[in-house]
Amino acid sequence: MEQNVSTTNGLPVITFDMMAAMCHNNRGIGYQGDLPWPKLKADFEYYLKTTSTHKKDSSLMIIHVHGRKSWAGCTELQASYGGVYHIVCSQSRDPSIKTHPNLLTVAGSVPEALEHIAELDRKGKVDSVWIMGGAGIYQECLSHPLCGRVYLTHVYKDFPSDTFFPHLDDNFREVKNDVISDTYHEENGISFEFKVYQNLRKCKTSI
Ligand SMILES: NC(=O)c1ccc[n+]([C@@H]2O[C@H](COP(=O)([O-])OP(=O)(O)OC[C@H]3O[C@@H](n4cnc5c(N)ncnc54)[C@H](OP(=O)(O)O)[C@@H]3O)[C@@H](O)[C@H]2O)c1
Repeated sequence: MEQNVSTTNGLPVITFDMMAAMCHNNRGIGYQGDLPWPKLKADFEYYLKTTSTHKKDSSLMIIHVHGRKSWAGCTELQASYGGVYHIVCSQSRDPSIKTHPNLLTVAGSVPEALEHIAELDRKGKVDSVWIMGGAGIYQECLSHPLCGRVYLTHVYKDFPSDTFFPHLDDNFREVKNDVISDTYHEENGISFEFKVYQNLRKCKTSI
């Protein structure tokens, strides 16, 4: 995988990537607080591997950024796998937000979450950053200048959905998957494909 570093005014700044899976036709990512489809083993393994493999240095932190509801749906395995760390976005800072030893902070906004990460990065502590959804967080981060790649699983079967992945604009171009060569899978009559889109927009600012 590429190193997740960009530059602004000649100074290195960390960029972030995004991980999501959606129904190919309606772009559904969620339904009633869960995924729209029954568990897809290969997609889950790909998700764990991709978002918990260090890109630079295994002693540094991999950070996942979640919306409050997505974090509530994370299992202990997802929260702890690979020793990743988490930031949860919540305006309400709802006191019922699940605590966890690897939860770094609850941020009141996406910029606040990214500033927290930038602070850690300035101290040389960050390996890589993943935006894990849901819908509003994806939408805001897709238009952020430090958005790098979108790792998007396309599920080629329709499922009822109430939460959707935003459309990718012309700044995103599909590129070769740098995590896995075997990108097309089928389980229990559901086919799905691991696609990767690169943001071609140039980084203009720091987080
Ligand atoms: N298929 C996938 O890849 C995927 C990935 C992630 C989630 N999902 C699914 O998507 C659904 C959950 O997503 P969702 O979009 O409904 O909810 P979500 O983004 O996970 O959580 C929404 C909450 O997060 C906080 N939040 C969101 N944007 C914020 C912002 N810009 N600043 C501050 N806080 C912010 C708010 O919390 P407060 O109300 O506390 O202010 C908001 O109510 C579930 O069904 C889940 O299974 C699917």
